[in-house]
Amino acid sequence: MIGYKEIHWAIFAASCITAEDKFVNVLKDIGIQPDTTVEVGTHKGLSTAILASISNTVNTFDVQYQPIAEPIWKLLNIEDRIIYVVVGQTSQKEAAIDIELYLRKHDVHPDFVFIDGPHTHYEDVMLLFKLFVKLGAPRILLDDAADKKFPGTAQVAKEIKAKMFYDRFAYWEG
Ligand SMILES: C[S@@+](CC[C@H](N)C(=O)[O-])C[C@H]1O[C@@H](n2cnc3c(N)ncnc32)[C@H](O)[C@@H]1O
Repeated sequence: MIGYKEIHWAIFAASCITAEDKFVNVLKDIGIQPDTTVEVGTHKGLSTAILASISNTVNTFDVQYQPIAEPIWKLLNIEDRIIYVVVGQTSQKEAAIDIELYLRKHDVHPDFVFIDGPHTHYEDVMLLFKLFVKLGAPRILLDDAADKKFPGTAQVAKEIKAKMFYDRFAYWEG
């Protein structure tokens, strides 16, 4: 029989949303009220929902479609603010190219970016970070930046001299 533990795991595993609300506290500390947010790494759409509650629009990208994301946004009444895009599934490089093409084609100029997609390989995380700097994003937050399991993000966070929150979230301002 499945119980709370299994249901909770099925929904929340891999999300930065935790009972302590650390993600919310980081957003409050940073003090942002973005017009246009871009998220890389939608997964089940949980961080997207929080971002949508403080942004006019969230463009969220993932390499995999998760059918549960949109119903969750509907339940929370924030679906109108979210644009969900599935990008290149063959490689990290292709995903980054697709994201750039999409943002340029739709004239999206993010004033806040949350990178929570690839974490393991430095090159993949840095590729995305540099893409958003090139696109003029003034604020970028990365998840899983100090976890020994995710050396790629941790190395990027050190190099860009990001401000750390909870020994996990890395924040950069241009
Ligand atoms: C940790 S989960 C995201 C969790 C979500 N942000 C949350 O906190 O609820 C990482 C997601 O990133 C996606 N991903 C990995 N590489 C990506 C890339 N280059 N572009 C977009 N999504 C990517 C994975 O498919 C996965 O769904």
